[in-house]
Amino acid sequence: MITEKNNNIISGFSKLSKGEKLDWLIHHYLKDGDDEAKDIFTLFSLEDEALQKIIDGFSENTVSNFVMPYGLAPNFLIDGEVYCVPMVIEESSVIAAASAAAKYWMDRGGFKTTILGTTKVGQVHFKWYGHGSVIKNIYKKIESFLLGCAAPIIENMQKRGGGITRTELIDFTKEENGLYQIKVHFETCDSMGANFINSVLEKFADSLERFFVDSPDVPDENRDIDIIMSILSNYTPECVVRAEVSCHVQDLGTFANGMLAEQLADKFRTAVKIAHIDPYRATTHNKGIFNGIDAVIMATGNDFRACEAAGHTYAARDGQYKSLSFCEVKDGIFRFWLDVPLAIGTVGGLTSLHPLAKKSLEILGNPSAEKLMRIVASVGLAQNFGAVRSLVTTGIQQGHMKMHLMNILNHLSVSEDECVKLISHFEDKTVSYAGVRDYLQEMRSSVGYRGC
Ligand code: MEV
Repeated sequence: MITEKNNNIISGFSKLSKGEKLDWLIHHYLKDGDDEAKDIFTLFSLEDEALQKIIDGFSENTVSNFVMPYGLAPNFLIDGEVYCVPMVIEESSVIAAASAAAKYWMDRGGFKTTILGTTKVGQVHFKWYGHGSVIKNIYKKIESFLLGCAAPIIENMQKRGGGITRTELIDFTKEENGLYQIKVHFETCDSMGANFINSVLEKFADSLERFFVDSPDVPDENRDIDIIMSILSNYTPECVVRAEVSCHVQDLGTFANGMLAEQLADKFRTAVKIAHIDPYRATTHNKGIFNGIDAVIMATGNDFRACEAAGHTYAARDGQYKSLSFCEVKDGIFRFWLDVPLAIGTVGGLTSLHPLAKKSLEILGNPSAEKLMRIVASVGLAQNFGAVRSLVTTGIQQGHMKMHLMNILNHLSVSEDECVKLISHFEDKTVSYAGVRDYLQEMRSSVGYRGC
């Protein structure tokens, strides 16, 4: 129930200035008059007003910027070219692991990629209650009418080498009375194509209604059609890239605790197999892949939610959620590969508007969308390799804990001397914030202790 005390409902919020929005926020949701809160929001706003305006333009009701680390993973040898890959991610160890895996495979031939397809899909969902054979018989006429109506929108994309490759009528009337779909297959060249696809689909929907009203091919008693919605599908099983690495088993080298190449190969293959058998493991395994994928997707201004959604549906395409990567050890060869749907672009959208996204693409040599798919998939595979290799050798905590300790030390503002002592003390101990804080206090209060 809304009472006077908790009445925080506001209309016209979007019309307030940034300062007014912050004042309102602090008054209603933080400590009234909290200058520190205002300072923190202001601190993360850019001083360059023109630049800040660009960033604000990407969203609504903005009051500040949420900053994420922008890092680089060098030494990625992909299809014979060496890349330094920009990655935006807040999780420690991810970039370190990607860089280490990139370097490791650089010495073993690097990453090889194949584009398995670039087709995207959109759908017009509608209801129509005539006899199924009627609509099926006139579908060719419907299709050519829709293509004709949408021609002005498609023209430009066709000039760039893309457009609509085919359409199909899908009958869902067994699942829901009267339900049909027109499924449209698109090539969108170097753009992700969401705007293009959705514009075409909405034009299709209008034209479909017109066809049913006007066409002499539609029986008069069947002219009613109800458009439900028109939207692209983020599931893109025909827009897929494969990245792979391989080498002779003995070239894998030796690993922590004296683990031999053959043992590593077999444990690694088994670990990947587990992710094909058990959805619990598959989810974490694929999460590790997306640690790398999302970071490059973010850095290049692409849509990581779309990539995640497509990836997870693809991982469940056989009816059970499974690993996106595969491993084979055969005839003395270790082979590890990843198939992942990636509907991404290098022109349009944020890719050209966000100054850092633009720079990221420049760092990558202003790649085509296909080339970016190859790079992103290679980073996903490298990330997966790094994670699984750690898991079957040392475990991941060793690396994670080192980074975790450094984050805690930063947070506690320790001196250089304290830093050295704390790192050495926690070398063989479990790291926790409370543990480090308590040990620091103990150090500082111990007799004769003098910080720097
Ligand atoms: C952590 O962000 C990702 C891992 O859990 C992935 C995996 O288990 O494969 C290390």
